Amino acid sequence: MATKAEKDTTPARYALLGNPVAHSKSPVIHKLFAHQFGHHIEYTALWVDTDGFADAVEQFRTEGGKGFNITVPFKLEAFRLTDNLSDRAKLAGAVNTIRFEPDGKIFGDNTDGTGLVHDLTKNLGVHLKDKKILVLGAGGAVRGALGPLLKQHPVLLVIANRTVSKAKELAKIFAPYGKVEALGYDELVGKRFDVVINGTSASLKGEMPPLPVNVIANNGVAYDLMYGDKPTPFLEWAMLHGAATAADGLGMLVEQAAESYLLWRGVRPDTRPVIQQLRKGV
Ligand code: ATR
Repeated sequence: MATKAEKDTTPARYALLGNPVAHSKSPVIHKLFAHQFGHHIEYTALWVDTDGFADAVEQFRTEGGKGFNITVPFKLEAFRLTDNLSDRAKLAGAVNTIRFEPDGKIFGDNTDGTGLVHDLTKNLGVHLKDKKILVLGAGGAVRGALGPLLKQHPVLLVIANRTVSKAKELAKIFAPYGKVEALGYDELVGKRFDVVINGTSASLKGEMPPLPVNVIANNGVAYDLMYGDKPTPFLEWAMLHGAATAADGLGMLVEQAAESYLLWRGVRPDTRPVIQQLRKGV
């Protein structure tokens, strides 16, 4: 049996399960969080074979893991694997954070949308109440964001997507939570929004959705869920077309991590110094 001293040197284990994970910033983010509290944790990025998610989860649990984050392509599988779900995970239809409960149950949460709203409202000072929000895309990333965005009581939230039927499906699911409409890109002509959020994967291909030139209101905000070393094509376009604020998803990444940390450890880290450090390229 381990002595108390030995036990104290064993870090509490957390991880990110995904494919790919090699360039993930999550291990450094959680290391910086733990440092704030003097917590002794270990957070590793684990590459998981596309058909090996359930096995990887069991192995991590057996090795003493306390909880983990989930990234592409396993968020839906994680959703199905859980015994209990938070309301926001149910609404998102996907899970990005799992906690192993003392009774052996698996609890699933989704901190992505809350992370986005925290970054917008707390870090960027963008208030969403009574605003007109345009969300681009209708995939998993957007679905995760819609519930927390609508909780801020915008006057209107429009979902635009190339495949309009997918936007319509989401608008139907979220209709009970606020005024939500679905449109194609061509139907955006003549409409203006206070906040435009790019939730498409276009940036990954160096592309951007086909937006009409005046879609961002004067003093409007452009936000891309993606982030990189330089501004995404959408953010570059937004800065040339009226946006007063243009932000990438790095702040959202840190904020969703802080929500996960809160779920696991019961305390919410201070995100600002961590975002600043990551911006400096730590
Ligand atoms: P994720 O889980 O990251 O949201 P996804 O479910 O594959 O990924 O969704 C990708 C989203 O980006 C979709 O809304 C897709 O539009 P379609 O549903 O019409 O395919 C959108 N998308 C990808 N590339 C795009 C581009 N070049 N222009 C506009 N939308 C794009």
